[in-house]
Amino acid sequence: MTKLVSLAALLLVMVTITVGAEFNYIYPEDSEIDKEDDHYLYNFTLPSDLKIGVGSAAYQYEGAWNEGGKGESIWDRFTHTHPGAIADRKNGDVATDFYHKYKDDIKRIKELGLDTFRLSIAWTRIMPSGTISSLNQQGIDFYNNVINELIKYGITPMVTMYHWDLPQYLQDLGGWTNELIVDYFEDYADVLYSYYGDRVKWWITINEPTKAVEGYNGNVTGSGYAPNVSLPGVGSYLAGHTMLKAHARAYHLYNNKYREHQKGQISISLETFWYEPLDINSRSDRNAAEQILEFNLGWFADPIYSEKGDYPDIMKRKIAENSKKEGYRRSRLPEFSEEEVNYIRGTADFFGLNQYTTNLATFREEGPTPSYKRDTGVTLSAPSYWPVSETTKWEKVAPKGLRKVLNYIKDHYGDKWDVVITENGFMDDGATTDTSRVIYLATYMMEMWKAIYIDGVKVVGYVIWSLLDNLEWTSGYISRAGIFHVDFSDPDKIRTPKESAEFVKTITSTRQIPIKYARYGKELNKIEFKDPS
Ligand code: BGC
Repeated sequence: MTKLVSLAALLLVMVTITVGAEFNYIYPEDSEIDKEDDHYLYNFTLPSDLKIGVGSAAYQYEGAWNEGGKGESIWDRFTHTHPGAIADRKNGDVATDFYHKYKDDIKRIKELGLDTFRLSIAWTRIMPSGTISSLNQQGIDFYNNVINELIKYGITPMVTMYHWDLPQYLQDLGGWTNELIVDYFEDYADVLYSYYGDRVKWWITINEPTKAVEGYNGNVTGSGYAPNVSLPGVGSYLAGHTMLKAHARAYHLYNNKYREHQKGQISISLETFWYEPLDINSRSDRNAAEQILEFNLGWFADPIYSEKGDYPDIMKRKIAENSKKEGYRRSRLPEFSEEEVNYIRGTADFFGLNQYTTNLATFREEGPTPSYKRDTGVTLSAPSYWPVSETTKWEKVAPKGLRKVLNYIKDHYGDKWDVVITENGFMDDGATTDTSRVIYLATYMMEMWKAIYIDGVKVVGYVIWSLLDNLEWTSGYISRAGIFHVDFSDPDKIRTPKESAEFVKTITSTRQIPIKYARYGKELNKIEFKDPS
């Protein structure tokens, strides 16, 4: 018996060592970032060439869901057939009505002194069915007008090709689980470059692939995203695999056919939480934090940004092991050939990052079998004493996490990458006195400032999510992200600037984060990283 126990103990030690050996980057016992934290030492003047903007997305903003020859997207279909999946049973049929109001909205952006507007194009406006055979001139004209309007005011358009609204026709062909989409996506990208590339110099192929694939997990994660296909643990990996190929194809197309004369930049927007160990003193929890980061950020960042390309080793190993245990003959995570690894590696001109929040990690499997959640092997939580968005419970206010993600990108993927923060923002109930949003933005920007000036991360852009209150996916219009309030009950969808719009004006006119927010930054960082014991 004793022998058995000591054997088990030895095995445990070995497992811990092997797991530990896989990680070597983060969570050193005494991180410099955790030590130094006196906000009052800095002046928080932002770099003069840092692009500062606001973001939006077609389905969340445009409305006009069936106007101007537009086809049906998976979000149109999903919200029309599953109204109960949206918290307030609403949909994007009208949304903020940006389709009709874009001119005034662009004026607003100008008045805020911002230099960048991130918008997405609805594939179904350009090609109602998703295929080039359905090219729609009215859709092409609409974005031409929007882009021209931006240029008129000297605002840089940053254009996302795919912000989750796949043409329903392509979904009927299997959507992202069908590799044919790569060809269709290339045709779509080709049209966008050829019509808009003379004026659009910042392209983002896909917004948050980790979220875009959620729709292939069915409702198991509780998100119930379109197209609401239930293939947990299989569909999302397949869809993600196709997205990486589609992204790379669009990048190479740009390189081969357009880059020389259009001279733009192209990338992808990747979303990640930052993860701290549940117990800062536990090596196992530190490894759990790194493991979940590899599963979340690494899933799409490693194939594109790492030296070696391909999925993170830990992901490949864990999913293969679980698949075997579950009786599969091969891993549920598809494999790339060597040729594909090389084709995808390096296909970005900058690192597009969406960052909102931080969680604590520990090793414990949870979620259905099979599922991405179970594959990660990690359980996440956040202490109840962290400040949180009242309407978006996952959004804890944890500014230092942003600085840590930025450092991780530099250390893990190399400092050759310029980083554009393509989304950062706060959700609330929509009140125009939105002091919490102001504090959120100010303190996150302060951490970005530290990443730039203290840590040497090359952050070249910062885009606030979002210009207007808009359709927050399954939260409907309950959770609001705008620096402008939108009255959705008024047919005119009246916009009113919030306190945060004033704050943004201060930032753009002084290029400095007011020092009065330093005390919040200091306080939040203390709360965020307080030793849980
Ligand atoms: C998405 C946005 C969304 C925001 C807030 C990001 O995941 O790109 O479309 O509104 O976060 O949830």
